[in-house]
Amino acid sequence: MNKIALVTGANKGIGHEVARQLSERGYTVVAAARNEARGREAVERLRASGAQAHFLLLDTTDAASIARAADNIQRDFGVLDVLVNNAAIKLEFHPAPPSEATMEVVRETFETNVFGVIAVIQAMLPLLRKSKAGRIVNVSSGLASLTLSAIPGTKFHVKPMLSYNVAKAAVNSITVQFANELREAGIKVNSADPGYTHTDMTLNQGGKPVARGAGVIVRLAVLDDDGPTGAFFDENGPMPW
Ligand SMILES: NC(=O)c1ccc[n+]([C@@H]2O[C@H](COP(=O)([O-])OP(=O)(O)OC[C@H]3O[C@@H](n4cnc5c(N)ncnc54)[C@H](OP(=O)(O)O)[C@@H]3O)[C@@H](O)[C@H]2O)c1
Repeated sequence: MNKIALVTGANKGIGHEVARQLSERGYTVVAAARNEARGREAVERLRASGAQAHFLLLDTTDAASIARAADNIQRDFGVLDVLVNNAAIKLEFHPAPPSEATMEVVRETFETNVFGVIAVIQAMLPLLRKSKAGRIVNVSSGLASLTLSAIPGTKFHVKPMLSYNVAKAAVNSITVQFANELREAGIKVNSADPGYTHTDMTLNQGGKPVARGAGVIVRLAVLDDDGPTGAFFDENGPMPW
């Protein structure tokens, strides 16, 4: 039987491409989306490219939706080998002084980008524990790096976004917390920075193609047993926290 991979926010952008690349590697892909029409249309595109793809309705900010999604995977597959926490929002499109960020935007961002990630991991863990080699990839960002943000002159230093960057830094901490708990269980948990990529999130203004942005996520999703856990990578290798 093929390995089963769940990708959140798989209806477009990097998540959709991750689903496509995982299917190329022989995974059966559960492509999750919060909107049924957009999600089903995306699954049709994946199937047209030869993928074994299944649609799953999943809004990562909705506890009932997450619970139903886990039940559906249990019913249809009984196991989960890979979880890619890709779904995220970015409500600040341009760098701005942290003193000007509104709490509303920070809270809304944390609902999806932080609390959603924790809730989905917790709900899917019983299924991941049934896998021989469970893998969790949390999609982070270079903007999450405390080390790089603290170095004057780096692009990370000059792009303050109190909601998005702080939320992604929390995602990195989530990675380490779960990696430590799950090391003995053989479940590897890592953070991936796709790098600046041409998607709706970046207003389709430049950046690398999704095929390249998705690459590091897919590599971490298919890690061998001797691969790392509790680490942060971009396409060039380890990233500083
Ligand atoms: N693009 C970049 O340069 C870049 C750089 C570093 C990191 N990243 C990260 O890469 C990941 C993918 O980003 P992207 O550029 O592909 O963005 P995108 O094109 O905006 O796609 C985001 C996806 O997340 C989904 N989503 C948002 N909120 C959701 C929720 N509550 N429940 C379920 N799905 C939800 C969106 O669904 P809808 O279509 O319904 O909105 C969409 O499918 C994100 O984690 C992002 O932070 C991106």
